[in-house]
Amino acid sequence: MCGIVGYVGARPALGIVLDGLRRLEYRGYDSAGVAIVCDDELRTEKRAGKLTNLEKAFGDERFGTGTAEDTTTVDSTCCPAPVGIGDGTAGIGHTRWATHGGPTDRNAHPHLSRDGRVAVIHNGIIENFAKLVAELEADGVEFVSDTDTECAAHLLAAALADLRAAGEPEGPRLLAAAMRRVCQRLEGAFTLLAVDASIPDAVVGARRNSPLVVGRGPGEHYLASDVSAFIEHTRDAVELGQDQVVLITADSIEITDFDGAPALGRDFHIDWDASAAEKGGYDYFMLKEIAEQPQAVADTLLGRLTESGEIMLDEVRLTDQDLRDVDKIFIVACGTAYHSGMIAKYAIEHWTRIPCEVELASEFRYRDPVLDRSTLVVAISQSGETMDTLMALRHAKEQKARVLAICNTNGSTIPRESDAVLYTHGGPEIAVASTKAFLTMVVACYLIGLHLAQVRGIKYADEVEAVVSQLQGIPDKLRQLLASMEPVRQLARDLSTANQVLFIGRHVGYPVALEGALKLKELAYMHAEGFAAGELKHGPIALIDQGTPVVCVVPSPAGRGMLHDKIVSNIQEVRARGARTVVIAEEGDTAVARYADDLIYVPRTPTLLAPLLTTVPLQVLACEIAAARGHDVDQPRNLAKSVTVE
Ligand code: AGP
Repeated sequence: MCGIVGYVGARPALGIVLDGLRRLEYRGYDSAGVAIVCDDELRTEKRAGKLTNLEKAFGDERFGTGTAEDTTTVDSTCCPAPVGIGDGTAGIGHTRWATHGGPTDRNAHPHLSRDGRVAVIHNGIIENFAKLVAELEADGVEFVSDTDTECAAHLLAAALADLRAAGEPEGPRLLAAAMRRVCQRLEGAFTLLAVDASIPDAVVGARRNSPLVVGRGPGEHYLASDVSAFIEHTRDAVELGQDQVVLITADSIEITDFDGAPALGRDFHIDWDASAAEKGGYDYFMLKEIAEQPQAVADTLLGRLTESGEIMLDEVRLTDQDLRDVDKIFIVACGTAYHSGMIAKYAIEHWTRIPCEVELASEFRYRDPVLDRSTLVVAISQSGETMDTLMALRHAKEQKARVLAICNTNGSTIPRESDAVLYTHGGPEIAVASTKAFLTMVVACYLIGLHLAQVRGIKYADEVEAVVSQLQGIPDKLRQLLASMEPVRQLARDLSTANQVLFIGRHVGYPVALEGALKLKELAYMHAEGFAAGELKHGPIALIDQGTPVVCVVPSPAGRGMLHDKIVSNIQEVRARGARTVVIAEEGDTAVARYADDLIYVPRTPTLLAPLLTTVPLQVLACEIAAARGHDVDQPRNLAKSVTVE
């Protein structure tokens, strides 16, 4: 996930683009860059690190020499000043969250054509980039970055050259025609923006499965990943459809499909102001991140299945034979990541028949676990920097075990020190409470389970494909679920004065109960505990008093019937002791309805995948209870996003 901005108008583009990037920095902040068209030349700057590194590179140049309309800082009346990067009135900018290629100056966007006259920025993953790179290299192109994006710059330059050679008239529409040709070659998800030094008054954009909106101003237009980038200039916007190309000049917006047929966007007015923009219009980053979960899950699944139906990991320094030799798996992680590992255990053991243990990373090495060359240790971490997990990983490596990392942060320490990596493509997670990272880690665990089962000959390609296709249905179910959260918000206001909240579940619903309780503890500072529902009667049931809220995570009645019946009995037990039961159940589960004081339905899905849905209402519940209690949702007390001490 990256942030993208484009501008064409009469004002200096550089400042507008940099301000837009500042508002989009939540989308990624490992490097940033701009390309501005100045006097028939392209001026580009890019820097690894946060946006401030890039801003420092400009110094006063940001304000130009005074040739553009509203530049006031330089008096150019005595003699004409040379045109600087601050004077150009068309440009693009990018803030990056690395997927292909580490976060370096070289891999930062924009990427340029060989002659430096075409610049491209990109959000998404071009899945067929390896094939395109091979083709371009065969034509003599030398790549200067490790990104999937650079091929789009070379393809665009080649398309422009072909169109010019064919006698197409010069001008903005030439740029749009060339972009359409490029889009027809690309597979995967992408938003692309581009400028050409020879077409100084236009920016072209294209979109497939990745966001892009147009901002409409008087005598100027904007393109951006979201409206927050231009909200301080205009509240009139156009949402593009899938597979569309948009060409903006100072006075026009032209939209076509990838074949060149005229197309329409959806006009809308933005009803919030610039102050909310950093959070993309949400009150908290956490709410935004909850809302991003459908896309985060889709992105994590993107491009994982090869044409022959094999699961692809990202960096694999293990052979298939190494994986066939595995006789025991340990998953090590902390907090929310640990809960994702607990869910993984059910899937991995079911699919691979390899014994799988889940360990708190902070305890792992102290109990001297039995590890050897045929042990696979899976280290799960959103940040990739959690010291407890890193130490567990190092201990495993000292004992000669193989280590596979699941991580959301490209190039961080945990994946770097592991033998293999599967990155979740959840995008930057800013709120301390982990939400979209949790869902994407669970998805990654499923993929690893399937990969192991396939390599070991336990599952055939068509069986793997069947599960992957069920996973691919999850983003739509998440969208449907997120659209029905209003009753959960109301319930949260009701529960915000409770003394404690208990959570119960069985099978994969048990880690979901633990995760629900953790979210509530860290955000609302309330006593909250998760239990395996069957354990209640062995002690915790004594906590239940008149009106104690008990959140019950109920498995699908269509799955293992026994599981469903058992938890319905547990719900009756707590109800009989005065509990207020908040039941999370599958749509159509009428059997449980009569035991629910509050009932939240989630879409139907196979039992093993259900945590991807049942967790979501618990995230919303915790967030809203915390807000109702007046807490800082994004930065709860005593916590930090990345825990780099043991
Ligand atoms: C949960 O909401 C927390 N932020 C916390 O438990 C977190 O999951 C844990 O600290 C592990 O972090 P990591 O995924 O970055 O390793």
